[in-house]
This record gives sequence, C-alpha cells and structure tokens, in this order.
Amino acid sequence: LSSCGSRKTVQKGKLMDFTSTVIVPLLFGSLGIFALFRLLQWMRMRAYLQEAVVVITGATSGLGKELAHPALNCILLTLVYSQTHEPHPVVFDLSDTKSVVNAAEEILKALGHVDILINNAGISFRGTIVDTGLDVDKKVMETNYFGPIALTKALLPSMIKRRQGHIVAISSVQGKISIPFRSAYAASKHATQAFFDCLRAEVEQYDIEVTVVSPGYIQTNLSLNAVTADGSRYGVMDKSTAEGQTAAEVAQVVLNAVGQKKKEVLVAGLTPCLAVYLRNLCPRLFFTLMASRAKKERKVKGS
Ligand SMILES: NC(=O)c1ccc[n+]([C@@H]2O[C@H](COP(=O)([O-])OP(=O)(O)OC[C@H]3O[C@@H](n4cnc5c(N)ncnc54)[C@H](OP(=O)(O)O)[C@@H]3O)[C@@H](O)[C@H]2O)c1
Repeated sequence: LSSCGSRKTVQKGKLMDFTSTVIVPLLFGSLGIFALFRLLQWMRMRAYLQEAVVVITGATSGLGKELAHPALNCILLTLVYSQTHEPHPVVFDLSDTKSVVNAAEEILKALGHVDILINNAGISFRGTIVDTGLDVDKKVMETNYFGPIALTKALLPSMIKRRQGHIVAISSVQGKISIPFRSAYAASKHATQAFFDCLRAEVEQYDIEVTVVSPGYIQTNLSLNAVTADGSRYGVMDKSTAEGQTAAEVAQVVLNAVGQKKKEVLVAGLTPCLAVYLRNLCPRLFFTLMASRAKKERKVKGS
C-alpha cells in the first residue's frame, strides 16, 4: 500500500512538474503571441485608416455620421477626411448621375486621390409591389444602386492608376434575402452585392480592396425616411429598427472590417443570419416563412 501511495505521489509530482515546466509557459507564450499579433493588427489597422483620404456618402445621419465620427478615426451627404486635410463636405444627390460625377471631380480636384470610398448613403422602401409605381422603384434603385456605382466608376480610374484603393459598399442583410413589402430596397441591395462582388474580382489585380458590409437592423432614421408606394415618406420608426444595433456599434465593425481588409461582413443577430443560411440551404422553407410573414403583416395593417 505504501509503495502504491509513494508511486502516486511521484506521478503527481511529475504531473505538476510537467504542468509548471511545459503547459504554463506554453499557455502564457501562446497568450503573449496572440496579444502581440492583435496589437500589431490593431496598429496596422489604425495606420491604414488614419493616413487615408476617406470619402463617406450619407454622413449627415445614422451609420454614416458615426463612421465620420473623429473618435472612430475617420470622416457627409459626402464628407472627405484625412489626418492632413480638414473634413471637406461635398453636397450631391446620389439619384442624379450628373451631380455624382461632378462631385467625384470636385473630390479629386480638392484632394488629389481617394484611398477609401465608403458607399453608405441609402433609402429604404415600404409598400406592396402591386401598388408601387415604377418611378418609386427607380428612385430607390437610383439612390441605392446607380448612384453608388456611378461614384465608384468615377473614382476607380484614379485608384487603378495608383494601384491602391479600398471600396466599401454598405449593403444589407436584404442584399442576401428578400423580405415582403421591401421589394425595391431588397432589389437595390441584391444588385449592390452582385456589382461589388464582380468588382472585387476585377480589381484584385490592381491591389484594390472591396468590402461588402451587410448589416441587419440599425437604430437610425432609415425606416422614418423610407419611401412608400406613392413616393411619400413612410415616417414610422419600425420596431425592428428601434431595437437594432446602435450605429456606433455597427460603425466600429465596419471600420474593423476595412482595417482588416475583409472581403465581406454580415453584421446581424442570430435570426437574420439563420435566415440567410435558410434561404440558401432550404429555400422552400424560407419561401413558406416569408409568405406567412406577408400574410401576418397584411392582417396587422388590415389590408
Ligand atoms: N438602419 C438599418 O436598419 C440598416 C440596415 C441595413 C443596412 N442599412 C444601410 O445603411 C446605410 C446607411 O443608412 P442609415 O441606416 O444610416 O439611414 P439614415 O440615417 O436615413 O441615413 C441615410 C443617409 O443617406 C443619405 N441619402 C439618402 N438619400 C440620398 C441621396 N439621394 N443622395 C445623397 N445622400 C442621400 C442621407 O442624407 P440626407 O439626410 O441628407 O437625405 C443620410 O445621410 C444605407 O445604405 C442603408 O441601406 C441600414
């Protein structure tokens, strides 16, 4: 018994020796390397954003305003910002291609080049397809799709020439799934996703980065400012929007994604993320759920 006890003591001692000489140093070493890696990543990210000339569309409110917040390192309508330049507001209407092209010229003239373009500005839509005039569909597409791609095309040649640049598209979960009574918005965001995915592949050879960000709900004025079937302002703060993530939280995710040169990010809760997977993996179930959602919403609205 006593020899068995002493063997156990010896084994315990060996185990403690192994823990203190191998496992603990390995654990601390790994933690140290991880911390150093994160610090270097953070420093590189900070330098990348701080030294950049950044253009953010839609910086007068919501997510764009937060992205432009100096505390978040960066930059109206469209605001252009860098460490060496004062913020430079450029006012233009994304739904008017000519004004977009003029704005791009003004930006290049004032700053010489753009390092990071964040296509953030946008409007939402609420209404049934059957009641919505084509002019409303076009307005949403002009603002959310044609405007941003016109700006991107106008700034792209100078980025290609410098073989440097980063283009960001603020899309939406609705660029991946379509929710009833949001047709024009979902269509514009699906088009955005497709366009910028093609762009990413085409400009990789010039070392130009493309990041598509797809947020779920954000606490902004987006639903208040949404257009309805007859083109009037919706003027309602939707519950889902009011309960969404704060604009500051999402802005931080966007800046981290840009700093880390991520290709795409989904910034949403569990339900929207699951819905995206369901749409791809089990489309029939997704369509049934959306049809039942449409029925429920119709009942609530009494139409
Ligand atoms: N809020 C959400 O739940 C949510 C979810 C997913 C994705 N997003 C996306 O996030 C982006 C930012 O929206 P937000 O939530 O911050 O909404 P917001 O508070 O309503 O801000 C929208 C911004 O876009 C600008 N804008 C609208 N129409 C324009 C036009 N024709 N020309 C130039 N600028 C125009 C607005 O400028 P004015 O105020 O001067 O009109 C405003 O600065 C949008 O692309 C939106 O689709 C939002």
